[in-house]
Amino acid sequence: MISFNENKSIWTLETKHTAYVFGHSPTGQITNIYFGTKLLFRDDYIHAVDPGAWAPEYPDRAVNREEFMGWGETKYAEPCLKVQFPQKIRDVRLVFQQYTIKADTLTLLLKDAYFDFYVSLVYTVHEEYDLIVRRVLLENKTTEPIIIEQLLSGSIYLPQAEQYHYSYLAGKWAGETQMQKGVIPGARVRLESRCGTPSHQAQPWVALEPGCPATETQGKVYFCALAYSGNWNIIIEKDCNNLVRVSAGLNTFDFQWYLKPGAALESPALFTGYSASGFGPASRNLHAFQLNELLPVKHRTALRKVLYNSWEARLFGVNEKDQINLARLAAPLGVEIFVMDDGWFGERHSDRAGLGDWSVNKDKFPGGLKTLITEVNQLGMDFGLWVEPEMVNPDSDLYRAHPDWVYHFPHRLRTERRNQLVLNLSKPEVREFIKGFMDRLLTENNIKFIKWDMNRSISEPGIMEVEEVQQKELWHRHVLTFYEIVDYLRTKHPEVIFQSCSGGGGRADLGVLSRFDQVWTSDNTDAFDRLRIQHGFSFIYPAKVMEAWVTSEYNQLNNRILPLQYRFHSAMMGNLGIGDDITCWSPEQMAEAHKLINEYKEIRPVIQHGSQYRIDRIPGNMLAVVYVSKDKRQAVLFVFLHINQFYNSIPRVPVDGLDPDAQYRTRYTGEVMSGRALQEIGLKVSFKHNFDSALIRLEQE
Ligand code: GLA
Repeated sequence: MISFNENKSIWTLETKHTAYVFGHSPTGQITNIYFGTKLLFRDDYIHAVDPGAWAPEYPDRAVNREEFMGWGETKYAEPCLKVQFPQKIRDVRLVFQQYTIKADTLTLLLKDAYFDFYVSLVYTVHEEYDLIVRRVLLENKTTEPIIIEQLLSGSIYLPQAEQYHYSYLAGKWAGETQMQKGVIPGARVRLESRCGTPSHQAQPWVALEPGCPATETQGKVYFCALAYSGNWNIIIEKDCNNLVRVSAGLNTFDFQWYLKPGAALESPALFTGYSASGFGPASRNLHAFQLNELLPVKHRTALRKVLYNSWEARLFGVNEKDQINLARLAAPLGVEIFVMDDGWFGERHSDRAGLGDWSVNKDKFPGGLKTLITEVNQLGMDFGLWVEPEMVNPDSDLYRAHPDWVYHFPHRLRTERRNQLVLNLSKPEVREFIKGFMDRLLTENNIKFIKWDMNRSISEPGIMEVEEVQQKELWHRHVLTFYEIVDYLRTKHPEVIFQSCSGGGGRADLGVLSRFDQVWTSDNTDAFDRLRIQHGFSFIYPAKVMEAWVTSEYNQLNNRILPLQYRFHSAMMGNLGIGDDITCWSPEQMAEAHKLINEYKEIRPVIQHGSQYRIDRIPGNMLAVVYVSKDKRQAVLFVFLHINQFYNSIPRVPVDGLDPDAQYRTRYTGEVMSGRALQEIGLKVSFKHNFDSALIRLEQE
């Protein structure tokens, strides 16, 4: 719901529970007024107007709450926009022109005070999800080029509080999305990626808690997340007047965009939201939005299938006979998609060679891909394939033919990572090469699933075909071209499911998830480590997009041995896959796996399409998560015991999210309890050993 108060020049954007309000000040600034709980009367928001914010001529009061601050005048906070205009002019003076409201979208048009340079601030209100999605469009309508040095998608302002906490997700390869917490200092904090993808090190998301730190069910939580698959930054500033501003957008590091006359540049979309009752509603709103509105429409409502992936079982050692053997064992387990990972093409026997040579290795697959795919299909499964289209090994026919097809600087070493270099997507011939080979693969073969990998970051970011002034465009260009190629392939091959992978979870973000159906969460498949990674992941993304495999009993990353049931339960909390060498599984293990896969198929509508509640009221040596169906008739509770100590008894596990007045029966103990009792008293769960787990189904009577 969007409204404009003509008398007061105030726009009010309301969702189900929240309001976002800003105004057009007498001095011509677009100034933020309020963000928080929706109030009963729209006129109430006017009380939040800070007279200082309407009088920016007193900069030392530091109450500048500009919606979209340009760099110039005496504004020393982080600007959303920094520009080099012609005639050596480097400051931005934006003047409000007009606004339009179309359905759920408000657009404000601003113009530079002198140049025909336009800025549109676009706000889309997603009422049901308590989300506002913002983006910015720059248009150069002058006759000269304009250089954009910094473009953020917007800022949000937090209400006054004694102290502020923030939560963010940081990590590394094999340790992505680990929740971090801190107190916002009286200084600038920058969360970012500079490596060309969102990265394993941080997620383009932050949550801010004015006052006390929030829990799953209590406390104020403001959050923002960028829908962007490249270099991003989120900047948190707290000044000595306790004004907290959070701005997010394209990373300003090594960024510059040469905006030609007549050209436009759009910022990534910034998702912003607020929850007055802790983290739970904040992430459930984000999940619901992705499930209902963001994921690619073709496969949006379909349940994700159980897959098998050959990577951990065979690494590069794939061949026709062996893959068929694995497929014959996977099908009776209940697997629905058989995915062949790396190693099937060119001279790809290790990570040292072959990337870029995308024709099937005939020694390994004498019948091409056809023989294997036919067999997989006859077994009743779809076939999927791994590719890494943006990359090349120097030891490949592609690189030998086109050594100039990679990002590089002349007279400088081309730094290899995993023995590979990154293809220069700015080159039209590279774009056509990728589109061409991918299109052929998907046209000539009955492929229903693509795992699209990117196993290294960008380095030596040089693109020789464009002018010096355009060199720093590379980072953003790479992302736009990657999107363009994927969009092209999806339009031509709509039946194919696409999974985004980047050496694990390096390219998981809301931008990728508007184009890919699911993501590979991490190369770490240790079921215990995964619980922590999955926990962090769930603050942004829903279970449906989170691919999780059951792999070997002994995991070499931590030298840990975990029971089959625990490994299954950990992976069943997302989109279940099997990634082990199943030729080594005993008949008993096969039988247990078969039973668990069947159970997963029964509960997956609740896991994939239900609402997720993280239970944070139990000690740290246990973890519990419950998934509740939309109608609240069914729930699936997972409980994990990490390690018990000191002869402690196992506490009861509270169950959130149920209908408090309904009665629920659990098959676990046969008990019947009301939803309220389950929340207040909880369920008794028994464990036999460390690393034990329980899957408890609750059904309304
Ligand atoms: C990356 C992926 C793995 C696997 C390998 C193949 O590391 O994350 O799952 O596909 O590449 O080389």
